[in-house]
Amino acid sequence: MRTDESKNRKRTELHRHLDVSFRASTLADLVKTLGISAPFHDEEEVRTKFWVTRQMGSLGEVLSCFGIFQQVLRTPAILERVAREVIEDAGAEGIGAIELRYSPSFTSKVSGLSWGVALDAFLRGLEAGARATGVNAGLICIVTRDYGVGVAGETIDFAIQNKDAFLAVDLAGNEEQFPNKMFVEPFRRARDAGLHVTIHAGEACGPESVWDALDLLGAQRIGHGISSVKDAELMKRLARDGVLLEICPTSNFVTRSIPSWDAHPLKRFLDAGIPVSLSTDDPGIFGVTLEEEYQRARRLLGLSDADFDRIDRYARKYTFL
Ligand code: HPA
Ligand code: ZN
Repeated sequence: MRTDESKNRKRTELHRHLDVSFRASTLADLVKTLGISAPFHDEEEVRTKFWVTRQMGSLGEVLSCFGIFQQVLRTPAILERVAREVIEDAGAEGIGAIELRYSPSFTSKVSGLSWGVALDAFLRGLEAGARATGVNAGLICIVTRDYGVGVAGETIDFAIQNKDAFLAVDLAGNEEQFPNKMFVEPFRRARDAGLHVTIHAGEACGPESVWDALDLLGAQRIGHGISSVKDAELMKRLARDGVLLEICPTSNFVTRSIPSWDAHPLKRFLDAGIPVSLSTDDPGIFGVTLEEEYQRARRLLGLSDADFDRIDRYARKYTFL
């Protein structure tokens, strides 16, 4: 399924959430060991009863399934294990470089672990995984919109204090209720400190959210950016300024960012000269691999080998690693 050029080259993934990227077996194991009540009892039930593979009503409905991850992100040893396994699985899948993002506030919300202790645990796991596989991995620090502007400021302070550990900052969570304009000041400080910026935008909201991510928050890349297709001026701006859209096809379908597979604008972005990459977003909840995202893009979105070669080049060019 891959061309000779791309077959031998390892892929680069730019958008995956570390704090919700659990193996089904690990999630089942942790729930059992920690005695947490969950809608599944074993690995098979994680796949059949917990993973969200059908189309949901909204992004908010998908985000409401994430609570179980906060319950199991309980100890430094667990965080280290999750990070190591993500890298091991990425290596086994033929990924050579991966940017992983997580929200310190989301991760520690239930456990109460200090953000520094949690970061160190994730870093230990990434290093162990990298030693075992040779995968090049880096972290992005997420501000969770839903916790408000006060926590956003604390998260950016944390990212700046740990600048050596983070490639960039991001804004994720409920885009409709917590718009970009709330977060101008913390993101200005992040940029002043020299951190790169990527913003989840145009996923649940219209093109105005992408404009604000660019003009108010200084986004260099956009997570999803799906609704940009509705605004010809915005399409020109993204192409002209070379703003990469981190496209996650399965996520876009499940969160109803697109009404149907037919409506996915990936091909139109490529045709407009906008840089795009392919990623899994939340494999711990969508049960998807990067290879499956490529297969769906071919089968459902009509991408060709030449398109994939372009996408792979964009991912290598636009990575913050
Ligand atoms: N959008 C917003 N917030 C998120 C996502 C997403 O796709 N995944 C995890 N947190
Ligand atoms: Zn995301």
